[in-house]
Amino acid sequence: MLERVKNADLHSKIMTAEESASFFENNMIVGSSGFTRGGDSKVVLKALANRAKNEDLKVTLITGASLGHGTDAALVENNALKKRLPFQVDSVMRKSINNGDVLFIDQHLGETAEHILNKQFKLDIGVLEVAEILEDGSLVFTTSVGNNVEIANNSKKLIIEINTSIPTNIRGIHDIYSVEEYGKRTPINITACDTKIGTNAIKIDPSKIIGIVFHDIQDMPGDIQPADNATTAIAKNIVKFFEKEVENGRLTKSLMPLQCGIGKVANAVLGGLENSDFENLVMYSEVLQDSTFDLLDSGKMIFASASSMTVSQECYNRVINNLDKYRDKIVLRPQAISNSAEVIRRLGIIGINTSLECDIYGNVNSTHVSGTHMMNGIGGSGDFARNAYISIFVTSSIAKGGDISSIVPMVSHTDHTEHDVDIIVTEQGLADLRGLAPRERAIEIINNCVHKDYKDELLSYFERACALRGGQTPHILEEAFSWHTRLRETGSMKKEKVLA
Ligand code: COA
Repeated sequence: MLERVKNADLHSKIMTAEESASFFENNMIVGSSGFTRGGDSKVVLKALANRAKNEDLKVTLITGASLGHGTDAALVENNALKKRLPFQVDSVMRKSINNGDVLFIDQHLGETAEHILNKQFKLDIGVLEVAEILEDGSLVFTTSVGNNVEIANNSKKLIIEINTSIPTNIRGIHDIYSVEEYGKRTPINITACDTKIGTNAIKIDPSKIIGIVFHDIQDMPGDIQPADNATTAIAKNIVKFFEKEVENGRLTKSLMPLQCGIGKVANAVLGGLENSDFENLVMYSEVLQDSTFDLLDSGKMIFASASSMTVSQECYNRVINNLDKYRDKIVLRPQAISNSAEVIRRLGIIGINTSLECDIYGNVNSTHVSGTHMMNGIGGSGDFARNAYISIFVTSSIAKGGDISSIVPMVSHTDHTEHDVDIIVTEQGLADLRGLAPRERAIEIINNCVHKDYKDELLSYFERACALRGGQTPHILEEAFSWHTRLRETGSMKKEKVLA
C-alpha cells in the first residue's frame, strides 16, 4: 500500500476513515470527488455520516455530480447534511429535498467550479479519491475528475482516499487543467475532442493533506436499463434524422462530436449508431457509458472525452483491466472543461439530453415533477443545450402508463427555453424546430411528438389560444396548467378520467 504514497513525508498522515471523520465540524463546507458514481468518496463521507448519528454535525456538501454506494442516503438519514449541490439521483435525498429538510442547489455542472473559484463557497475540507500520491505530492485521480481540481486547489485541508482497486496505470487517462480567475482568463485551447491541454496529475501543497485513508472499493456499477420499445423507437428516429442531415449536406458520416445524457435513452441512441453507416465518431460529453466503450471497441467511435465513467460491472472490468488499450482513445477532464461553453460552442457538439416534459413551443422541463418536486437536477444538460450545434431533447410521449403526457400546453418549470431546443424526439416521431417561429413550432411538435390520447386536446388548446389570445406565443393562461392540476386531482391528465 505504501508504494501508493510516493511522498514518504505523508506516510504519517495515514489513518482510518473513522479517525479522518474527526476533522469535520458543524457547518463546514465540504468538497468531494464523485461524478455519477465514478471516483466518489467511498469511506470518509460514510464515516462522517456515522459520526453525525450521535452529534450535531451538519455540513454543506459539494461534489462533481451524484455519488454511489448510498452515500447521499447515509448522509441524509443521519442528519449530516445542511445543503447539497450541484446534482443528485438518490431517492432518499430526493424525498428529503422535497420535504424541505435538505437545501438543494440545482446547478449547471459547468458552473460549480466557478462558484468555488470566486469563493462563493469557501471549502473547509476536500475529500478526494485518488489512485496514488506522487513524490512531489501530486494526486492521480481515478474514474472521474469532476470538480477535483478546484476542490484540491481551494480547500483549506484535504483528506485523501487511496483506492487500491484502481491500477496505477490509470495515470495518463486524465487531462488536468485549471481555468484562471476572471479578468486573467486565457482561451481553453481545445480544438478537437482528443486535444490535451493539461497534465496527468494535479500538483498541490502536500501540507494541506491532513489524512490519508486506504480502501479497495470499486465504483458502484451503473444502473443500465435495457432498451425498450419506446427508447428503441426514439433512437431510430434520431438515427434517421442524422441520415437526412448527411443527405442534406449539413453533417458528414462522422457527424459532429456527440454529447449524450445518461440513462437508457442515451444508451439506446448510441447503441443505434452501432448498426448504422456512421463512422469515425467522436464524443465530447460528461460521462463515458457502456455504449461508448462498445462503440470504441467496434471501431465506430475513435475517441471519447468526458469527466467520468459510469458503466456496468462487466464494462468496468473490461476497461479497468485494459487501461493501456483505452489510453489513446479516452480522456477524463475537469467538468469545468468537459462542460465549458467555450469548448462546446467551438467543437460544434450534437447534444442529446432527456426531458420530463416539453411544451408545444419547445420549452423543456428536465428537473421538476409537476413544477415543484425535484427529480435529479439539471446536471450538464443546460451547459450543452445552450451551446450545442444541434440541441436534441428526447422523452417518451407518455409517462406513468399513459396518465401523463410528456408534451403539455405549458411546462410547469423551465430548464431549457425554446431558444436552446432545436429538436424534440419521442417514440412517436421527431420535431425539427430549427428555423421555425413559435406558431410553426407548435404544429411541428403536436403533429410529430404527441401521443394519440392527447393530440386532439393539445391541438384544440393551441388553436383556441391563437384565436382567443393571439400573440407571438399564444397561451390561455388560466388553462395552461390545467393538465397538471387535473393530474393532481384525478391522478391522470386524461380528460375522460375527470368525467368518469
Ligand atoms: N411527470 C412526472 N413524472 C415523470 C414525467 C413527467 N412528465 N416524465 C417521466 N416521469 C417519471 C417516470 O415515470 C420515471 O418514474 P419512475 O422512476 O417512478 O418510473 C422517472 O420520471 C424517470 O423517467 P424515465 O422515463 O425513466 O427517464 P430517465 O430515467 O431517462 O430520466 C430525467 C429522465 C429527465 C429524470 C433524467 O434524464 C434527468 O434527470 N435529466 C436531467 C439531468 C441531465 O440531463 N443529465 C444529463 C446531462 S449530461
